[in-house]
Amino acid sequence: MPRLLILYHSQTGGTEAMARAAAEGAASDAEIVLRPAADAQPDDLLGADGVIFACPENLAALSGVMKAFFDRAYYPLLGRVEGRPYAMMICAGSDGENAARQMARILLGWRIKPVADPLIICTKAQTPEAILAPKQLTPDALARCQALGATMAAGLALGIF
Ligand SMILES: Cc1cc2nc3c(=O)[nH]c(=O)nc-3n(C[C@H](O)[C@H](O)[C@H](O)COP(=O)(O)O)c2cc1C
Repeated sequence: MPRLLILYHSQTGGTEAMARAAAEGAASDAEIVLRPAADAQPDDLLGADGVIFACPENLAALSGVMKAFFDRAYYPLLGRVEGRPYAMMICAGSDGENAARQMARILLGWRIKPVADPLIICTKAQTPEAILAPKQLTPDALARCQALGATMAAGLALGIF
């Protein structure tokens, strides 16, 4: 079975729920490694056939913990992961586009290959209280994450990426 790495950061649980849904969707076609960005190491990527990166948008940027992973892993992996397929998921209050753009720009440097459009899920949290509250995603949002995981795993298993 191919190995799919799902590398994620989550502060209030939304992205974690997305990552777990993607893992569920992928489980029948791939071995899943679900790794928090804070613990992730360059070897996690080297050992994976494909990757889903998932994080919140914070302050119109990808979340700091995810950025810290890229800061730590960028040069150790430069020139060693070209062509590997990836997808990304962003959890946002109301936007998410800038985090997706930034992450795509960072990943361009590794020359890894996007195989799906960024999946952005908005929680519609607007007040400070709602933004800091634990997140409950809708069944539709979770189904979209599941479908992305399933697509990613099936593509890896069939060797079509
Ligand atoms: C400090 C901070 C800044 C945020 N900035 C943005 C933002 O710029 N755009 C946006 O759409 N959502 C923003 N949000 C909302 C989060 O993206 C949203 O709550 C999301 O569910 C967080 O994902 P998580 O539950 O995995 O932590 C922000 C949240 C925090 C805590």
